[in-house]
Amino acid sequence: MAYSETKVVLGGLAHIPIIIGFFYLIRRQYSFGAMLRTGKNALSKKVEAAPSKASAPAKTAAPAKAAAPAKPTAAKKPHADVPVNTYKPKAPFTGTVTENYSALKEGAIGKVQHITFDISGGDPDFKYVEGQSCGILAAGEDAKGKPHRPRLYSIASTRYGDNFAGNTLSLCVRQLQYEKDGETINGVCSTYLCNLSPGDKVKISGPVGKEMLLPDEEDSNIIMLATGTGIAPMRAYLRRMFEPTEIEKHQWNFKGKAWLFMGAPKTANLLYDDDFEHYKSKFPDNLRYTKAISREQKNTKGGRMYIQDRVLEHAEEIFNMIESPKTHIYLCGLKGMEPGIDEAMTTAAAAKGLDWSELRPKLRKAGRWHAETY
Ligand code: FAD
Ligand code: A2P
Repeated sequence: MAYSETKVVLGGLAHIPIIIGFFYLIRRQYSFGAMLRTGKNALSKKVEAAPSKASAPAKTAAPAKAAAPAKPTAAKKPHADVPVNTYKPKAPFTGTVTENYSALKEGAIGKVQHITFDISGGDPDFKYVEGQSCGILAAGEDAKGKPHRPRLYSIASTRYGDNFAGNTLSLCVRQLQYEKDGETINGVCSTYLCNLSPGDKVKISGPVGKEMLLPDEEDSNIIMLATGTGIAPMRAYLRRMFEPTEIEKHQWNFKGKAWLFMGAPKTANLLYDDDFEHYKSKFPDNLRYTKAISREQKNTKGGRMYIQDRVLEHAEEIFNMIESPKTHIYLCGLKGMEPGIDEAMTTAAAAKGLDWSELRPKLRKAGRWHAETY
């Protein structure tokens, strides 16, 4: 069969997609190989990783240069390198309790424990940063004979842990207790956690969450609104900002203003109060600490003093701070506090001629409004 010139040209053109497809396959193969070679686990590189117990004892070791957070590039999402879900609930990490003590003072209401776990020896390492949470899988089974579903708890320690060695994780847990039909019901996981003893093994998943992470900028302003155990992430932030050994370790020198609003039912229920008072005395220009003690103080209407009442008292200063793009607001604790805070912010914003219902979504979109309530 004779071919015309046109047929030959058309035949040649018809092969172009096949050639392109061939090159595409080669390229894909190559990049997949490169991904495997470089390692896909973000933990191994970008996070300002705390040193592991084996590699660096507390006090002496500064975080290795290579482990410092990567400089953000224009294309990269903030906190892209923060580890999430390293350990899934189906294949959790097993931590060991090192400490479990009451976070309350004499005369306090209820039971709140500060619990620390040794998280060393994982493969991969269990790494986390301030503001993340973890899942706890209580031992035993539920009423259907199935393992208990994980419950989330905010991590109360910095990535360096309470001992600064980078191999522990701490929680602040309130035991859930309520009355039903004349009977006291104890929450499954919170009771399990509060009753643990040093040496006990605990299944931990996570870390999870990027909602409550601190900004990288040292001159950020951080407003914190916490009720009860909602103080957990704030404790981690405040340690990162003001605890001398922490500052030595990470060389992230906080230069902004931090303002903690803390709500508790009684003075004896103020969690980590001595630490925060100490930070305030050491850094009076950088830390303000305002307490709302609901069952000892009264608001202007004669009702229980809640943090939203304190927010209203300081509305002018808070909104002056919010006007700065460097200011972030963190809210953590009882779900019930959110409408109250919203109401207070609405009133406070209106006094400045601002509409909170418009401002809040803008702050959120800008990554400056961080809320985690439960
Ligand atoms: P469960 O046995 O699961 O019982 C809870 C259930 O009891 C509720 O779902 C409800 O059905 C019922 N119930 C509760 N109260 C009452 C009542 N008054 N009357 C009738 N029924 C009731 N908790 C902390 O202590 N510290 C933290 O740092 C912390 N961080 C969290 C972070 C996140 C992101 C989230 C989502 C939650 C956090 N929690 C924290 C809460 C925690 O996850 C658990 O929900 C809590 O400990 C209760 O779990 P439990 O297993 O003890 O209770
Ligand atoms: P109260 O219980 O007196 O009503 P804890 O978890 O240690 O009990 O602390 C929670 C704190 O938050 C308590 O002081 C509690 O007050 C307070 N609180 C309860 N409900 C709200 C709410 N809707 N808004 C703000 N604070 C609240």
